[in-house]
Amino acid sequence: MKQPIKIAILISGSGSNLQAIIDHQKQHAKKYQIALVISNKANAYGLTRANNENIPTESIDHTLFKRRESFDQALQKIIDNAQVDLIVLAGFMRILTPQFTQHFLGKMINIHPSLLPKYTGLNTHQRALDAGDTEHGLSIHFVTPELDSGPVILQAKVSINSQETAETLKAKVHQQEHLAYPQVIEWFAQGKLALKDNQAWFEQTPLSKPQQLHRLNDLSI
Ligand code: GRF
Repeated sequence: MKQPIKIAILISGSGSNLQAIIDHQKQHAKKYQIALVISNKANAYGLTRANNENIPTESIDHTLFKRRESFDQALQKIIDNAQVDLIVLAGFMRILTPQFTQHFLGKMINIHPSLLPKYTGLNTHQRALDAGDTEHGLSIHFVTPELDSGPVILQAKVSINSQETAETLKAKVHQQEHLAYPQVIEWFAQGKLALKDNQAWFEQTPLSKPQQLHRLNDLSI
């Protein structure tokens, strides 16, 4: 049987997505193994979550580096040494240098709380409310040099109701994130996903539109 692929998960905060991935991996003995969790903040709660599961962790404080490039080089070294097949950004609050993203091109994914290309960057929930949107959601995409702009693999939508606040909307999106991210990692581990010619491919077919979360229903999770 094929060995599970090794993944590294990069976080900066609470790590609820990390927890969802840990739980999914444990419950379903999936085709991936979390080899390492890395945080740029030593007090990130996600590190505690990883420690609780005996997953190796590394903390690398970006404030100790004068230049963004130096931090990224040090981070790259840690990841290279871990010899992972996939890098999963899960609330990693850093803008990455083009050298770094190029080094891991096709092997690094990110989850972003908006229906990209809408609302790259921060405060996405409030921005969706301010714009009067009736729906919002999340996108999982391959990471390319431009922030939150790599080819999208999967999106999940949530509706916005008249009483919605940024907090309630964030909670709704989080719930969907916790289903969607483990699924995409599983697809990658099964060899179903690839980045080719700046496009996301699913099962040997270029995705003209991102996959939608309802595909999850087709799978026996
Ligand atoms: C998520 O909303 C994700 O979309 C964004 O950062 C947040 C991380 O949340 N990139 P958590 O730390 O996984 O709870």
